[in-house]
Amino acid sequence: MHKSLFALALVAALTACNATDEDIQAPTVHEAMTEVIIPASEDFQGAALDIYDEDGELNSSELTNDRWVALAKVASDVEQASAAIAEADVIEVADEGVVLGSNDQTARQVATLEDVRSFIASDEEGFRQEWRTFAAAAQAVSVAAEAREAAGFEEAALAFNEACTTCHDRFWYAPETSDPAAQGVGAND
Ligand code: HEC
Repeated sequence: MHKSLFALALVAALTACNATDEDIQAPTVHEAMTEVIIPASEDFQGAALDIYDEDGELNSSELTNDRWVALAKVASDVEQASAAIAEADVIEVADEGVVLGSNDQTARQVATLEDVRSFIASDEEGFRQEWRTFAAAAQAVSVAAEAREAAGFEEAALAFNEACTTCHDRFWYAPETSDPAAQGVGAND
């Protein structure tokens, strides 16, 4: 009797363990970019424009309740994905065979998968720190959206979109490794 209780408890503990592992399963960086972060950035930019009323004043009631709820959810998804990458046991840039850069609208020369892997390997802790900072930026957007705070939202959304650059400059562009002819092209965002 005791024995089977113990077995049950063990099964429960193992199940709980597995569930936790699944919860913190991190997306690849590429999945986070293309499926969560790029769309979020577009949503926030759109909302930051729509939040102005016809007199050019910031006004929370310009966005519907559903829209505020959706913005808060999107921001919190970004926060979770970013935190999961920051704390992942192993950071995966992308699945094998994925060609990076097809979502880059300016079509500038960017790094290959191998390049990005080596940028990260050269300062993995710095890369994790960038994700923690970004998670905090996303959290600020989520908090402002939950509070339906027009000015706070605008400020947080701007800061969020500015936070892309710091990470890209260090871990995406390939100033030394890629085609030298492409150096200096559009390296500003
Ligand atoms: C913590 C680091 C980090 C942050 C923050 C970050 N990125 Fe990225 N981004 C990367 C890396 C690394 C790549 C290269 C991997 C890739 O192409 O998916 C990348 C790639 C991209 C790409 C190209 C995707 C492709 O392969 O087609 C776009 C577009 C992009 N990021 C947009 C953004 C925007 C917009 C933001 C901010 C709202 C942002 N990123 C924030 C690290 C970051």
